[in-house]
Amino acid sequence: MMRSHYSGDVTAAAIDSEITVCGWVHRRRDHGGVIFVDLRDRSGLIQVVFDPDEADTFAAAEKLRNEYVIQVTGRVRARPEGTVNKNLASGEVEVYTTALTVLNASETPPLQLDETESVGDAARLRYRYVELRKPRMQRHMQLRAQVTRTVRNALDDLGFLDIETPILTRATPEGARDYLVPSRTQPGHFFALPQSPQLFKQLLMVAGMDRYYQIARCFRDEDLRADRQPEFTQIDIEASFVDADDIMGINEALIRSLFAEVLNVKLPDPFPRMAYGEAIRRFGSDKPDLRINLELVDVADLVADAEFKVFSGPANSDNGRVAVLRVPGGSTLTRKQIDGYTEFVGRYGARGLAYVKIAEVAKGRDGMSSPILKFLSDEAIAGIVERSGAEDGDLLFFGADTAKVVSDALGALRVRLGHDLGLVSGDWAPLWVVDWPMFEYDSEAKRWYAAHHPFTAPAVDDPATLKAAPHEAKAKAYDMVLNGSEVGGGSVRIHNPDMQRAAFEVLGITPEEAEEKFGFLLEALKFGAPPHAGIAFGLDRLVMLMAGADSIREVIAFPKTQTATDLLTGAPGLADNAQLRELGIRLRKTDKNSPSKDETSA
Ligand code: AMO
Ligand code: AMP
Repeated sequence: MMRSHYSGDVTAAAIDSEITVCGWVHRRRDHGGVIFVDLRDRSGLIQVVFDPDEADTFAAAEKLRNEYVIQVTGRVRARPEGTVNKNLASGEVEVYTTALTVLNASETPPLQLDETESVGDAARLRYRYVELRKPRMQRHMQLRAQVTRTVRNALDDLGFLDIETPILTRATPEGARDYLVPSRTQPGHFFALPQSPQLFKQLLMVAGMDRYYQIARCFRDEDLRADRQPEFTQIDIEASFVDADDIMGINEALIRSLFAEVLNVKLPDPFPRMAYGEAIRRFGSDKPDLRINLELVDVADLVADAEFKVFSGPANSDNGRVAVLRVPGGSTLTRKQIDGYTEFVGRYGARGLAYVKIAEVAKGRDGMSSPILKFLSDEAIAGIVERSGAEDGDLLFFGADTAKVVSDALGALRVRLGHDLGLVSGDWAPLWVVDWPMFEYDSEAKRWYAAHHPFTAPAVDDPATLKAAPHEAKAKAYDMVLNGSEVGGGSVRIHNPDMQRAAFEVLGITPEEAEEKFGFLLEALKFGAPPHAGIAFGLDRLVMLMAGADSIREVIAFPKTQTATDLLTGAPGLADNAQLRELGIRLRKTDKNSPSKDETSA
């Protein structure tokens, strides 16, 4: 071993002993003939001192630059009075250097390692190995490892078996596009990378494994956001002879113990549960952040007769919604702020954001100001005030459109206002969202989609009932929501082939297509499939929340950009002609993919 200590482990207890530390030059300061270097390793920083009395090491230290890799041997001593650094684990001590070895030099790093640097995202992704040296990133990676270790231990203790499932496989539909891998041995055929291990974990239940888990990589070619990456990691779990309550019970206990062990945080026992319908109605979201004490209130019945078509139209439409969001103390919002929020809800499809400012409730209409007051009757105003619980000094925002647009827009506005106005209370608000619909109808595509995935069991037992009324079918599904983020989702599965066929039929999958794509599953369900259920957590999201980070990129060592590229390696790259020929692939001509002249004749 080249070191005797990690720098963060050197405390006053080591005073007078000789140690050797290895790491990077974090900072070098020259002070009146003495050189100080903050040496950094995974554990933190330690101050090493070079004294001119040690002529050789001092001369070598003069050549040190940021990010040089060095080995330092010296004697630990107390720092002089007044120079103790309370922010460092090793802040009471320093190393009086007697030997210095430069293990490697470094060019001027492309990123500064202090947190205030203003280098753009592109550079930080391109030089990810430098970015990862930052104490923040080191903390995130250590936290992530601690989370997986804790989860593995807990699941091992509960008798869950860690079993790997294939990466080169067939499509597993979870609602995204597949990443395809061409087959060389079967020209024209493609593997799909798994969107999740869903089908394999079900097959493992048919295989009698009883309790399975895997820290599994999943691949989804979908539009990326702060909480989505094209490849991400699930804590994937499945068990046999269990129902929804069993899975929810086991898994909230898992998350509770994780938070207790890793963060010393006590989460509620049990987690509250809320029906999907209630979540949409009250919070405009299927993953409500319950730390924010703002709610949507429906007022369609109160404005159905209004001469204001913006309101009465949706109020009288089957799939319309008119709702109010009361903002306590919001009457101080400026015109400019309201314009900003109007633009914000526009991103969710809202065509406007009507508002009423309330100075004095008791004065009725005369105590309020709003461009739309003139369109509303006294009764409507009184009804809205009463139902929303509006008080002096409040502001009411209105959404009127299709139910989806209103819920999405006011749901997002609720979260935004909660943060902008400091209305977030408490640190952690976990929640189970239950009673999901089986299917969602897409009126543009004129077809049903699975609200979870097509293997989720409906609450009804009879395939005919499911087919007769898909719009009424509820799913035995559950999502775990934490602070407004969907950290996990799962369900009881269909274990009967007829029910599985019925679900495919509702989804518009023809029997031939079902056979071609999922024949192996339908077949397996015929050979003694036990009742089973499971869940998958988004590991990246979980760690992001635990780290207090605002993007999962912060907790993934080598993440991809918004456009699903890796700036470090330059992936995806071009394939050479020989490779393509071997795969039987000829590229269509686009300006992006022709590296050489003979590309299309490959
Ligand atoms: P689902 O699609 O809900 O369910 O995924 C489970 C959890 O994975 C996380 N997640 C993601 N994290 C980062 N980037 C992404 N692109 C991404 N997509 C999903 C979320 C989500 O809650 N097979 C089912 C699980 C089951 O039924 O057991 C599934 O994959 O936190
Ligand atoms: P207009 O009559 O279009 O000028 O709109 C009057 C007020 O109603 C403005 O404050 C708009 O922002 C608001 N508004 C317009 N459409 C909607 C809508 N669909 N939902 C909520 N408010 C709206």
